[in-house]
Amino acid sequence: MLLQAGRVLSSLTVDSYGGPLRGVIAVPGDKSISHRALLMAALAQGASRITGLSSGLDVAATRRALEAFGVAVEPAGARGAWSVGGGSRREAQTVIDVGNSGTSIRLLSGWSASLDALTVLVGDASIAKRPMGRVVEPLRAMGAKLDGRSHATLPPVVVRGGDLHGIDYDVPVPSAQVKGAVLLAGLRAEGETTVREAQPTRVHTEEMLPLWGADVTVRLGSVTVRPSRLHACDFHVPGDPSQAAFWVVAACVTPGSDLTVGKVYLGPGRAGFVDVLRRMGAQVEIVDYDPVSAVGDLHASYGPLQATTVGGEEVPSLIDEIPALAVAAAVASGTTTFADAAELRHKESDRVSSTVGALRSVGFQADPRPDGLVVEGSGGRPARGGTVDSAGDHRVAMSMAVAALAASEPVRIQGWECVQTSYPSFEEDMARCRQR
Ligand code: S3P
Repeated sequence: MLLQAGRVLSSLTVDSYGGPLRGVIAVPGDKSISHRALLMAALAQGASRITGLSSGLDVAATRRALEAFGVAVEPAGARGAWSVGGGSRREAQTVIDVGNSGTSIRLLSGWSASLDALTVLVGDASIAKRPMGRVVEPLRAMGAKLDGRSHATLPPVVVRGGDLHGIDYDVPVPSAQVKGAVLLAGLRAEGETTVREAQPTRVHTEEMLPLWGADVTVRLGSVTVRPSRLHACDFHVPGDPSQAAFWVVAACVTPGSDLTVGKVYLGPGRAGFVDVLRRMGAQVEIVDYDPVSAVGDLHASYGPLQATTVGGEEVPSLIDEIPALAVAAAVASGTTTFADAAELRHKESDRVSSTVGALRSVGFQADPRPDGLVVEGSGGRPARGGTVDSAGDHRVAMSMAVAALAASEPVRIQGWECVQTSYPSFEEDMARCRQR
């Protein structure tokens, strides 16, 4: 058998394989876009039809939250379509448990801030460590009452929503979640709400809101939303570039590989990993790109990689891809630095520590920095076998599965179940591209 995915408790063992990866992969619908599509549809008059939603537990958490608010969310016919909305929001009668989903808890804070209701948002042990002051502060400035653990900086978070007024807000950390939370609240506030960003972040909220009829103005470095009545629309969620990144890196580091990832969103703020890999000398092409939908295919093949430096303004456009890029850096020639990425410490795990630890567990050299990590390239030598702690972080777990594809010995990834949060079909796709 080419692939033995032996499960021991919650671990995945990827047997050493060494063969090329080939074929065409279709990744799940984009997670960031899926959350927003659900939340926007739930504010609209009439039912929206949404196709391509992410199949992971994170998006299911947002979907369940909406049901708790009385929003109708139902499967709509074949091929994973959903019908969302068409009713009015009411106070949730239970606490809203977002599981592991940071995007859910941030966006729902803003979404519920305009509802005359008490909302309690809780999550798992990782969520309990995610900074919330960044959304609490602007939403309080809009007139909502929020509180939370540790002086309203950590979940659980309690939102007493109500009459909001617009604000003009400079986001202190580059965060599309904060931008999204404030803009969603602004839809039901009195007057204009403007969010200003010193560094560009993913643009999904401002790109998608007008499709539901919202009155949005985008300028260089700012987005303004005015109170809007949203109407239903049909929406398709394109493929997730963050998931595509795993296969692109896998093809780049596994000898003989030649892979295509079909129909991936490659719009502003999401395709930074492609630029970094190309800078490293990787053979990655965007094929059949449609500039209207910003969707294209990614084609990647194996070749030698050189080290690079990642930092500055490009970081928000690839922050979620750093664990995968670190695997590419680990087999490159030279020393790669990931800087200006202190936000990594506040993701599903402290991704500086978890990524460094995981790379070391399979024989690579990496060191933490306060704002990122430094990876010593092996000059083409693949991972050796070993046991890796995913730290319950889906992106660390999948990155190490990628490293394992070319490893000389089996790699055991502990805590593999976290992959369910974003990519339940990862193992099937891995088996598919390992078929010779
Ligand atoms: C996301 C924004 C990013 C990203 C996260 C999803 C979003 O987080 O890391 O996975 O959907 O807006 P920040 O907004 O905290 O940077």
